[in-house]
Amino acid sequence: MKTDRRAFMAKMGLVGGAIAAAGVMGEEAVSGTARQPRLKALLVNGSPHAEGCTYTALSLVAQELQAAGVQTEILQLGSAPVSDCIACGNCRKHPGVCIWKDDPVNELIEKAKGAQGFVFGSPVYYGHPSGRLLSALDRAFYAGSFAFEGKPGAAVASSRRAGSLATIDAIQKHMTINQMPVVSSFYWNEVHGFSAEDVMKDEEGISVMRQLGRNLARAMEAYALVPPPQPVERKFTHFIR
Ligand SMILES: Cc1cc2nc3c(=O)[nH]c(=O)nc-3n(C[C@H](O)[C@H](O)[C@H](O)COP(=O)(O)O)c2cc1C
Repeated sequence: MKTDRRAFMAKMGLVGGAIAAAGVMGEEAVSGTARQPRLKALLVNGSPHAEGCTYTALSLVAQELQAAGVQTEILQLGSAPVSDCIACGNCRKHPGVCIWKDDPVNELIEKAKGAQGFVFGSPVYYGHPSGRLLSALDRAFYAGSFAFEGKPGAAVASSRRAGSLATIDAIQKHMTINQMPVVSSFYWNEVHGFSAEDVMKDEEGISVMRQLGRNLARAMEAYALVPPPQPVERKFTHFIR
């Protein structure tokens, strides 16, 4: 299998020294490079509550990632409006850039370029993800799918009581149309509560998040080391033409 490792590394947001520290032998290996965090996970909080339940769940995942040597950043989508995709097609002319500049979606795409793994977290609203997370993911993946493609990711849901699975399913669709391995835990990636304090009483949810962090770190290590297969020639049809 012929692979262009430099192109692969660039796509994964890895620099030469970084992948050498990750243990890859070859032309990029830099002898004597001190071991330092070389993989980065971007965790996206789709809640308007900066330090609510979803944030608490993401923080638990982040702790385990950090313990495994992975750098982490939690990106807050915030409480200001996040526009929906208007299908303007501008991002087809300017890949990686959404025409809406007044919310964090372009920042998400930029940060995704330098990350090798993702967690997308959302509170459950009427049995589905928050509108802000869905709008952000629709636009970020439509304008900048290349920044996420082939990198492991996980979906996390926080609910008071019900709707977590539909929420997780919705978030995972962005990943599974983009060649991203979806990382799981020993139960579905959900926590429960109305406040951060509630979540910290959800012992099973806490353990699920912690295992998820460890599993994501492993998946990130593995995917950073193994280049993707040669791409199949892609067909794009509307079924009838
Ligand atoms: C508009 C709205 C709709 C909600 N819908 C649900 C729901 O369908 N199921 C549920 O269990 N909790 C629901 N909740 C509660 C939140 O999902 C839950 O409190 C969540 O943990 C809050 O996370 P956060 O602190 O990160 O925002 C809803 C909350 C709001 C504001």
